[in-house]
Amino acid sequence: MTLALGSDHAGYLLKEKIKEHLNNKKISYKDYGTFKMDSCDYPEFGYKVSQAVVNNETDLGILICGTGIGMCITANKIKGIRAAQAWDEQTAQLSRLHNNANILCLGGRILEEDQALKIVDVWLNTSFEGGRHESRINLIAKLTGL
Ligand code: RB5
Repeated sequence: MTLALGSDHAGYLLKEKIKEHLNNKKISYKDYGTFKMDSCDYPEFGYKVSQAVVNNETDLGILICGTGIGMCITANKIKGIRAAQAWDEQTAQLSRLHNNANILCLGGRILEEDQALKIVDVWLNTSFEGGRHESRINLIAKLTGL
């Protein structure tokens, strides 16, 4: 499995921590930036990571901004993306089980580092349940065209 990672300046430090964590677990990833702490615009990175996921350059994506909200709004405007903002392990797990989320959005200014890493772990270790949830996901696409 390969992940696409992206953040703005407010998510940069957490992105670097997540990279260390993934390195320790030997999980491969591609970093789509930002690569420094200078102020930048989250939609640019949200868009790049979303494109990587829908074009199958990577299997899943993780996006981090200050709250996770701007990244989530951006990613969910891309056809084929189901981005979920998770603030604890339960929301992370359910976003995979029920929503088949293909992008995880995190708030770099909201979450403690250890909590964020637990969220990443549970999200990566949970698979879609399918069944009734599959038809609901299909309905999102049918109704919205996204
Ligand atoms: C940047 O200050 C902040 O607005 C951004 O990281 C994010 O939280 C937006 O949703």
